[in-house]
Amino acid sequence: MKDFREMKKRGERITALTAYDYPTARLLDESGIDIILVGDSLGMVVLGHEDTTKVTLEEMLHHTRAVARGVKQALLVADMPIHTYDTPEQAVKTAKQLVGAGAQAVKLEGGADHVKQIEAITGAGIPFMAHIGMLPQSVREEGGYKMKGMTQSEAETLVADARAIEKAGAFSVVLEIVIADIAKQITSAIGIPTIGIGSGEHCDGQILVTHDLIGLFPWFTPKFVSPEARVADEIRRATRAFIDRTRNGSALSNIRS
Ligand code: KIV
Repeated sequence: MKDFREMKKRGERITALTAYDYPTARLLDESGIDIILVGDSLGMVVLGHEDTTKVTLEEMLHHTRAVARGVKQALLVADMPIHTYDTPEQAVKTAKQLVGAGAQAVKLEGGADHVKQIEAITGAGIPFMAHIGMLPQSVREEGGYKMKGMTQSEAETLVADARAIEKAGAFSVVLEIVIADIAKQITSAIGIPTIGIGSGEHCDGQILVTHDLIGLFPWFTPKFVSPEARVADEIRRATRAFIDRTRNGSALSNIRS
């Protein structure tokens, strides 16, 4: 495992993207990404659910196994789905299952309120990545994806969460849609790297859902994402070309033998 604290000290930015299958994981890995996350965003961008709250541990294990086959150099982190870490005992059991599927580290959503779970996981020797700010698994209770750190008390809670997480042994923390100034404050308040998503430029690293980065989920793109490719358009173009050449009888010569 790379020393992410040392990277933070050196001011070396950490790069992270999600993957849910073998070819994507292998392509990201071969491109030199530092961290690959099997995110529970799986539920939305791969399985077609409205949010991440329907994702099961079985699904996460299945996709983690596929991703693990494609990863050689990156750190492979797997998300713990909702209600698989309600107690410290359950958290350790889930984390061990994900490690058994090929993950090298695990992530769950929550701060000081989950310190017992985090301590249990790190105490079991499993590297742990935290996730604070907007917590997608709580989107239903929250009534939407809302920016965090808007009020003084929210900002103070976020800083306290980050400190508690560091103390509990996390090696990094994802900050999801946190006001950029607060993300900057958190970044300087702790020794472990902050990995931002929609949280401005002052984090120690950045993470994105790969489907957003490459334009593979064209029906919705978060405001903070600037896609680098239009893969959905390419799929549509290739599909139409195949339909055309099949319908006009020119496809047979292209069939794989
Ligand atoms: O599930 C996920 O993809 C995530 C990232 C957006 C951080 O948690």
